[in-house]
Amino acid sequence: TPLATIVVAVDGPSGSGKSSVSRAVAQRLGLRYLDTGAMYRAVTWWMLHNQVDVHDAAAVAAAADKPELVSGTDPAGPTITVDGIDVAGPIRGAEVTGAVSAVSAVPEIRTRLVALQRAAIGAGGIVVEGRDIGTVVAPDAALKVYLTASEAARAARRNAESDDPAASVTATQADLARRDALDSGRATAPLSMPADGVLVDTTEMDRDQVVEHLLALVGTRAEDA
Ligand code: DC
Repeated sequence: TPLATIVVAVDGPSGSGKSSVSRAVAQRLGLRYLDTGAMYRAVTWWMLHNQVDVHDAAAVAAAADKPELVSGTDPAGPTITVDGIDVAGPIRGAEVTGAVSAVSAVPEIRTRLVALQRAAIGAGGIVVEGRDIGTVVAPDAALKVYLTASEAARAARRNAESDDPAASVTATQADLARRDALDSGRATAPLSMPADGVLVDTTEMDRDQVVEHLLALVGTRAEDA
């Protein structure tokens, strides 16, 4: 696969470091970058903002086509707007984080977002991160990475990134475990390691080591990497 058309799929649970690693790999290789979790978060923000009951799957499904989503794919500065509103900040808040697993379990939401994601992937040249990229969105991706780390390591990293100094690691770990269970246990496109994926356990690795490891993996799959 030429680097210019490669698709790198990066899946894994919350706090595995997918976002920062995927962005860095895309930047190093001059590829585009798509954060599909941000898309599920933006749709969740829209549902909350428009008084849709996020725990009413039929109501969420009925509104699935309404949010106008635009995702920028520059790894140096990813952007996301819904109905023209910049939601990059609010989608990281506790309200959206608490509701996103329920919204992303609704099949009509997934159908809509998978179509947008495939359109964004286009002819490739992109690093795409999420939960179902290697399994559903881009099953033909030249490289599929499944990033994980122990629950404790993921919770500690999430806390270190958080701007809430009062957040306890115990509470963060409980929230991660709750989201992992929902994201792995749902009926449609659950989080799972692709059969042909490369498992990378980052518990004992720092971010730069993970980036270098992924760059080396891309090198084995791309002719001109
Ligand atoms: O990666 P993240 O934490 O920003 O993702 C937010 C939520 O979106 C996550 O809890 C599950 C959902 N998600 C999904 O169902 N499928 C994806 N491809 C990406 C995210």
